[in-house]
Order: sequence, then structure tokens, then C-alpha cells
Amino acid sequence: MTEEERRGIINQQQRSRKRKRGKRHRRKQQVAGDSPPPSLEQTLNANTKNRSSPAAAVVKCNSKARIFSSSFLDKMKAKLSGGHFRMINEKLYTCTGQEAFNYFKEDPALFNMYHAGYQEQMSHWPEQPVNVITKWLKDHSPSLIVADFGCGDACLARNVKNKVFSLDLISKDSSVIACDMSNTPLDSSSVDVAVFCLSLMGTNYSSFILEAHRVLKPRGWLLIAEVKSRFDPSTGGADPNKFSKAICQLGFTALSKDFSNKMFILLYFKKKEDEKLNVNEIRWPGLKPCLYKRR
Ligand SMILES: C[S@@+](CC[C@H](N)C(=O)[O-])C[C@H]1O[C@@H](n2cnc3c(N)ncnc32)[C@H](O)[C@@H]1O
Repeated sequence: MTEEERRGIINQQQRSRKRKRGKRHRRKQQVAGDSPPPSLEQTLNANTKNRSSPAAAVVKCNSKARIFSSSFLDKMKAKLSGGHFRMINEKLYTCTGQEAFNYFKEDPALFNMYHAGYQEQMSHWPEQPVNVITKWLKDHSPSLIVADFGCGDACLARNVKNKVFSLDLISKDSSVIACDMSNTPLDSSSVDVAVFCLSLMGTNYSSFILEAHRVLKPRGWLLIAEVKSRFDPSTGGADPNKFSKAICQLGFTALSKDFSNKMFILLYFKKKEDEKLNVNEIRWPGLKPCLYKRR
């Protein structure tokens, strides 16, 4: 055999070995891909549970191994939870208080989802209305009894010395009374201050204010902070004067209105003594749902 023939045979053997190695590798990959691919949510959840793992997650998907960076997964997760928040938020603004109560009762996890999104949205506001109301309470006597209608995470109660009845659809901790706020377990004429901080969400919001009127003592305060755009008639919002007029017809005196903040308005009222109510004659303006933008 010549030297040239010998080299030819060696090259042929090397090529054949290489082909076999390639086949073995492809077979291994197919076996790995036989298990069903995880859903995107499973992937995202797995990534959240496993935060101490390296900065990349390997996902087997349709026989192919794909690598998603954790920043990509975090972005997808934020998108998903943002979508859930907007859906729940829209629901709360377009149903009655009782329907909202039943909605969360069926699936309490939705409440946490809503509040995670809500906190995210609020982090973009330069000032939080709940802080303005907290300051108002700190400037008044700590002996005033407060009812916080739609308290959320009960931030108000945690930051003042007053006795606060925190009311919301779900009780996140034992201090919160779970109820639809148009029908609270509070006694009539038992509180000095009723607070609605961004919580006039239900389509039957007038029944929330009616309930506040019932539980307030004569000369008690009604403090309302609401999203400004809901009171902008040029974009379909309510006329703030009509809103204020309806509350006064219920038996309150308007004390102050503050439109200086870019994001929210503040309307303060005082309950009249011995006012005869003509509830059925009151014309409540519709409040525009507050729908948050996609970020
Ligand atoms: C936008 S969040 C504001 C939370 C809190 N007041 C704050 O300023 O951070 C509105 C809250 O009102 C509650 N809410 C809406 N409708 C309600 C109802 N019918 N009865 C009780 N709570 C209600 C929601 O569950 C939510 O926690």
C-alpha cells in the first residue's frame, strides 16, 4: 500500500467516526425533548422560585434547548402581572360593590395580584394621597375615630395613633374588616372621620357614601381623595361641582376642595346635624372608570 493510499484510509475512518458522534448527539437531544414543554407561566414561576440560580434559565421547548436571560423572564413576568392588574382594575370600576366582593371571595389571590399592580402604578405618582390624609389626621386629635373605606393594605391605620376601622373586600390581615363597603358592620353614628382614598370604584359608589353618612357622627368629617381624570368633564369625567352638590344634598357641608395635585383631587365635607334626607332625589354624576395605561 502506498503512503497516499494509507492516508486516504485514515481520513475516511476519521470522517466516519465524526458522523457517528454527530448521530449519538442528535439522539440524546431528541430524548431530552420528549417531555412536554412547560407553559410560559410555569417557566416564569420556576425562575422566580429559583432566584439564586445563575443569571440564565435553560428551557426545553419543542426538542430545542433555549436560553432566556433572567432579565427577559422578569420583563415577561412584569408584563403578565401588569395585564392581570389592568383586568382586575377594570372589573372593579365596572361592577357594583357586591359583585366585586363576590369576585374576590371566589378567588382571593386576585386581590394580591391587584394590589401588587396598584403599588407599581402608585410608585410613579410624585405624591401619595394616603399620605396627605395621614397628615390631616396627624394635625387633628388622635382621639378621632376613623373608618377607612377601601383601605387596601391598611397603610393609613399603621401610620396614625387614631382608632381606625379598616374596611376592604378582602382582609389581608386581622385588622381589616372584609365587607362590601356599602354594607359595613359599623354602628350608626359611631365614627368621626370617614375616608375614601381612591376607593370610589364601584358603579354604585353613591351607596358607599350613603353608608359613610350612616356611620358618621353628626359634625363628622368625610374626606375624599380621587383620581383627577375621573373629574375632568372635557374627557368624559364627572363635573366636580355636580358631585359635590350630590354629597351636600345627602346632608353634608362642603368644607374644601383642592385641585392643585396633578394626579388626584381632595374634597372634604362635614356631616350636618339633623338633616332630613331626600336620597331618591339626588342626581349622582357617573364617575369615569380609571383605567391605567400599559407601561
Ligand atoms: C385603589 S385602592 C386604594 C387603597 C388605599 N385606600 C390606598 O389609598 O392605598 C382601592 C381599594 O378599594 C377597595 N374597594 C373597592 N370597592 C370596594 C367595596 N365595594 N367594598 C370594599 N372595598 C372596596 C379595593 O379592594 C381596593 O383595595
